[in-house]
Amino acid sequence: MSITRRTLLAAGTAALTLPALARRAAARDMPVLRAAPSTAQIAPAGYGPSPVWSYGGTVPGPEIRVRAGERVRRRFENGLPQDSAVHWHGIRIANAMDGAAGVTQDPVPPGGTFDYDFVAPDPGTYWYHAHARSWEQVARGLAGPLIVDDVEAWEGLEGAATAEATLMLADWRLQEDGALHEASFGDLHDWAHAGRLGNTVTINGAIDARLPVRRGERLRLRLINAATARIMPLRMPGLAPLLIALDGYPVAPRPAERILLAPAQRADIVVDIPAGLDAPLPILMDAGRDEWVEIGSLIDGGVTALPPQAGPVRPLPAGTARAPDLSAPQEEVLRMEGGAMGRLERARLGGVEQDFRQLVAARRVWAFNGVAGDMDEPAFRAPLGRTVRLRLVNETRWPHGIHLHGHHFTVLTRGEQPDAYQARRDTVLVRPGEPVEIAFVADNPGRWLLHCHMLGHQASGMLSWFEVT
Ligand code: C2O
Ligand code: CU
Repeated sequence: MSITRRTLLAAGTAALTLPALARRAAARDMPVLRAAPSTAQIAPAGYGPSPVWSYGGTVPGPEIRVRAGERVRRRFENGLPQDSAVHWHGIRIANAMDGAAGVTQDPVPPGGTFDYDFVAPDPGTYWYHAHARSWEQVARGLAGPLIVDDVEAWEGLEGAATAEATLMLADWRLQEDGALHEASFGDLHDWAHAGRLGNTVTINGAIDARLPVRRGERLRLRLINAATARIMPLRMPGLAPLLIALDGYPVAPRPAERILLAPAQRADIVVDIPAGLDAPLPILMDAGRDEWVEIGSLIDGGVTALPPQAGPVRPLPAGTARAPDLSAPQEEVLRMEGGAMGRLERARLGGVEQDFRQLVAARRVWAFNGVAGDMDEPAFRAPLGRTVRLRLVNETRWPHGIHLHGHHFTVLTRGEQPDAYQARRDTVLVRPGEPVEIAFVADNPGRWLLHCHMLGHQASGMLSWFEVT
């Protein structure tokens, strides 16, 4: 059959049948999330704004908010000078939407776009961040909050919070002129130690943030640690924080005088603002060695006071992730080794055993199960629906925040003792010599990353994946 202009036209029309038209219409009204260089006032007053990379021109990026079960749709536009992708941290997402550049999708090149369209199944406090050269891209500012509201508003119930605020914490390494310290991006000495620690902590992009609150109100604070390396112990003296969720997942409400957030972790707390608030209420962070510094404060917003909330705080509605079946789980181990003072004598890289010198030359200083970031074989495979019990053993001298993509897990034990919270999480802090056991139902098919969320550690060997089939 010869192809005439008429048949060509017919074929063209056939390709534009309704579903295709509907898809085009849907793509046209996709909200845009654009990553590009911009500036932000993260240095103290007296310095000019610092060059950063941001989503939507702000640091942190715009808060994305949906109700549980709703879709999140964003056209990612890459205005950066390098490849990127957006990861929706903690969301039990369809694999193709997970945003792990090079694993679940091709990296988006400069000038390119990628349409993210997924359902957010679980209410809670989540976040999104770059997942290509994340040790650099997140440190330059590419992160933002993703809040999934309960289907039925939790607000307004007796004893519940009357208002809420998202507090995204970040850690910047600024040089004397207030610009980001770019020369030390990728510094292997940092990576072999705690990671790229900064010298300036911001809340919602502001140094010394002053957050207006209402006297007498019951306030839900959603705390997100978006730092690439810094573990943040937090206190709010003058308030009696009640912890209600970890990594977005509800826990039975309990007093939490000290809140510990490893990189990528979240905590939701409820605080009762005193009716007689006359001085700012400081938010303190342990900068190391029990040196508590003020990183921001809650101040009187000047609105009419509310009568104090006396009732108990109700627990959040339970989440929907399946509970692990611990009767006959698939047992797996993830052994961490390497780093400063724990020298990685040998590990597999590029499919062969390499020694310390070769590994350092390849910028690998950490390993999982004797493999320094090779991606050809998974750490483990699990059949769909199987419960996996994973033992995390830290043989290094450094703490690590281990994150699994696509799943929530239960923290069963810590240092061989039952964990106090038995919380569902997506990121868990594993200290040296303190094994942690987690379990989860491998119910989300695909290849999922498994890595340390100290992002320099991830880049230098603490990266693997698991497959659910
Ligand atoms: Cu929040 Cu693979 O990361
Ligand atoms: Cu680590």
